[in-house]
Amino acid sequence: MWWIILITLSLVLIHYLMTKNFDYWRNRSVPGPHPWPLVGNIGPSFIGRRSTGEIIKEIYRKYEGFPFVGIFRATTPVLLVRDPDFVKKIIVRDFKHFQDNDVEVDKDVDPVYAGTPFILKGGSEWKTARSQLSACFTPGKVQSMFPIMQKSSERMVRYIGNEISISPQMESWDLCGRYTLNNVATCAFDIEGKCFDEPHPSFKQFADEFLGYDHFWSTIKNSILLLIPSSTNFFKIKIIQDQIAQKILDYITTAWKHRKENGVVMNDFIDYLYTLKSGPIPFTDLDATSRASVFLEDGYDTSSRTMSFFLFELANNTIVQETLRQEIMESYRENNNSFTYESILKMSYLEACLNESMRKNSINGQLRRVCTEKYTYTPTNPEFAKISITVEPGTSIIVPVGAMQSDPNYFESPDEFKPERFFDMDKIPKYSFMPFGEGPRLCIGKSFGKMQIKVGIVHLLKNYRVTVNQKMQFPLKYNPWYGLLDVIGGMQIDLHKIE
Ligand code: HEM
Repeated sequence: MWWIILITLSLVLIHYLMTKNFDYWRNRSVPGPHPWPLVGNIGPSFIGRRSTGEIIKEIYRKYEGFPFVGIFRATTPVLLVRDPDFVKKIIVRDFKHFQDNDVEVDKDVDPVYAGTPFILKGGSEWKTARSQLSACFTPGKVQSMFPIMQKSSERMVRYIGNEISISPQMESWDLCGRYTLNNVATCAFDIEGKCFDEPHPSFKQFADEFLGYDHFWSTIKNSILLLIPSSTNFFKIKIIQDQIAQKILDYITTAWKHRKENGVVMNDFIDYLYTLKSGPIPFTDLDATSRASVFLEDGYDTSSRTMSFFLFELANNTIVQETLRQEIMESYRENNNSFTYESILKMSYLEACLNESMRKNSINGQLRRVCTEKYTYTPTNPEFAKISITVEPGTSIIVPVGAMQSDPNYFESPDEFKPERFFDMDKIPKYSFMPFGEGPRLCIGKSFGKMQIKVGIVHLLKNYRVTVNQKMQFPLKYNPWYGLLDVIGGMQIDLHKIE
């Protein structure tokens, strides 16, 4: 008899622990979907059936007319913000109430990752790291890296030529990843990435290991970071392993040594890190490794994903592709059969196409913040129900960028690829399009990321037509285990030489 009582009590306790927070939003009169024990509203993500981006989009749509929705990420209450005016207040106007990104990394366990601006809490350390890194991505600095991007693009064009002599089929992300990584190898580490020289280049293997591709434990760790960020300290999650951090530092110190011995001054990222080391503010090897790891992660992965979706959209929309090619060729001829930094910046259709691709394919999907100071919001926008909320410190916030960018209230026929929406940026509703975030935490590498994508695309379209490979299956299925937008099975395209 006693064991029946014990089992019953245990079950009651487990159920209590799995659901104890679930009246959090109800107590504050915040609308929201009913959560499931333990998994909250993101159950399908835990079992790998759907990505969190897809789940958030569905909830966002279901609660049309509400300025915010209360959901549960596992057992943690999260405020999903729908009203662009509230979004503006969170990420720009009242930033001091929401300074931190909703991600936890233990400095003692993972010091390199913990030192990146994205992870650092919004205090003085974050400001210093941010300003140090921002100085490397000013328009002047991006322009100085333009020749490197041109060289990688030419190398990519030759690589495609060789590959398609065997088969026209290529995977978009593999191709774009080789290209962006080849740039990063030289821009960040002053080495030849040789990403187009071999089927499995060693630098790419290192970068993929850094990102944790295809590693079971990395997938688990990334999922914990994504789905239950509050437990990363408990599990002692380490994203950047010691041997990877050491290798990043080795690249930097080798370049420093070579330059010092040979009196080489290049005024690039490597030189800048060296300047910081000898500057007035303490700057350790760990800081240098941390800054370089950002360049590697976002210059390679985030940029190549953005570029690969762009290429795939162009493959899917041949009329847009042809119009873009005309702009590219006109610009090329006007500039004495060449592309320059300025001529690429001037291509307005290219800019509109890239914006439209980033709107339709939100690589990050969400901006995640934590409330750092109590904040009360009452909607003023008549389109939203007039319900107020007081957000308590520690509350997780999701700004569902992907869902907002595909909201028909802001973008008519959102599933269609229509670059003309971006001909006049003033017509884009404020805070409904934010591929690089906004406010004090705006992406640092926006100009670099956009320029390297544009340089690669203009070279590619000048030489090749791109179509979707017949084997591609629609609708696309997204990887629920990866933090950035990732298509299961990849995006297969065919490339055809323009004679
Ligand atoms: C097309 C490529 C890229 C996209 C789509 C992208 C997107 C984003 C987004 C959405 C954020 C979050 C902003 C926010 O929370 O408001 C972000 C932050 C950041 N990005 Fe990028 N990014 C790209 C390339 C880069 C590159 C090339 C670098 C640097 C080499 C970079 C460095 C950063 C850093 C350091 C942050 C954190 C800023 C902070 O929290 O203070 N990104 N990026």
